[in-house]
Amino acid sequence: MTHLWSGRFDGAPDEEVFAFQASFAFDRRLFEDDVTGSLAWAEALAGAGVLSAGDAAAIRDALVEIRDRGRGDPAFVDGPDEDVHAFVERKLIERVGDAGKRLHTGRSRNEQVALDLRLYLRRRITVIQREVVALVDALAARAASAGTALMPSYTHLRRAQPILVAHYFLAHAAALRRAHRRFEIARDEADALTLGSGAIAGSSYDVDTAALARRLGFSRVVANSLDATADRDFVSGFLHACAGVMVHLSRLAEDLVILTSEEFGFLGLSDAVTTGSSLMPQKKNPDPLELVRGKTGRVIGRLAGWLATTKGLASGYNKDLQEDKEAVFDAEDTVMGSLRAAAAVVRTLTLDPARTGAAASGLALATDVADLLVARGVPFREAHEVVGRIVRDLLAEGRDFASLTPDEWRGYHERLDADSAARITARGSVEARRTPQSTGPEAVAAALGETRRWIDAAGR
Ligand code: ARG
Repeated sequence: MTHLWSGRFDGAPDEEVFAFQASFAFDRRLFEDDVTGSLAWAEALAGAGVLSAGDAAAIRDALVEIRDRGRGDPAFVDGPDEDVHAFVERKLIERVGDAGKRLHTGRSRNEQVALDLRLYLRRRITVIQREVVALVDALAARAASAGTALMPSYTHLRRAQPILVAHYFLAHAAALRRAHRRFEIARDEADALTLGSGAIAGSSYDVDTAALARRLGFSRVVANSLDATADRDFVSGFLHACAGVMVHLSRLAEDLVILTSEEFGFLGLSDAVTTGSSLMPQKKNPDPLELVRGKTGRVIGRLAGWLATTKGLASGYNKDLQEDKEAVFDAEDTVMGSLRAAAAVVRTLTLDPARTGAAASGLALATDVADLLVARGVPFREAHEVVGRIVRDLLAEGRDFASLTPDEWRGYHERLDADSAARITARGSVEARRTPQSTGPEAVAAALGETRRWIDAAGR
């Protein structure tokens, strides 16, 4: 077969090297976007008087037919072509001959591949965001069904203070909402038309780039053709968003591995999202969560690898940039699979409120005892000391605050009296929280309502 660039060459390319540098095996995923861009470009060339109305119509009809064939039969998008751009052009010329040969006038694959990837990401980011919203929705549902159940919170993975279980689920929802926003930013970065840049210096044909941008749904045209043909910041931004959401999923996964373990038993995993052991009959393993955690390394690697690929590139297009596509597609697939797996796990989580509630009391109430002293006029630093002494004694005797007699309370501080024991409870601790971001029941109810409104707005 001849290649897009055969004229200047005496011999045919080495087969193995050609296969090495070809991208069709993976950039076939850009097929529809390549046709979309070509349809717009044909129209722009007709507008500039480069294509006759007849040629433009023939090209349009043939491109629509090619697109529909490819949509209906993925096996159609195949062949010995170097890349998807060469494939579409070959199919076009097979159908309309010379008219097809005129389509690449004033256009370069350098601007075309950047355009295709921008079109692709704009579409796909929306799909990823929908899965993020679905996971936030699953977390909100768990928050709602947890009601007033209590659990301990942890710092350093050591019991810290009592919180509502709902507050815990909404914490992960808050992080995922930031991840959703990052994808919004990545989509905005991709939102610029590259056509009119040519290979590097711009186009000498009078194409209406503003009209092209409007037709393709871009809000702006790139500022500089030399920059635009090599700019992949929108790819870096997308991979950063992917790595970011994976880091959140990984932390959620790690939490759930811990909280569903025999030692904790706070939450339970449905059989549907676990696997057994080939040897140990008692096992029910959280494999999907472990894989989400594991695949996070892979997506971080895609981002880091891609940044390394681009750091040494001279100005203008370099073939290194072709590495963008496998990074994008692999990160996208991994994020989609991980989001769906995580949502399936969260949707089917069960809660053991007796266990979480019991674990929320005990010495996790130490700060509340200190706060009680502060409320009675004791400086916080002094209160901290007093409570530290109580904790030391309780630990030595294997007791907790609830077992202290009125005399014992008073023995530690004159302002600790008979009703101290009644005041120092996990429920009282949570109900004492005042700030809007706190685990106070009113704040959590408001946060849940606000999260639901966000889901409705984002899920449109
Ligand atoms: N397959 C190429 C890529 O993905 C398309 C652009 C080729 N441009 C070139 N000058 N070889 O980057």
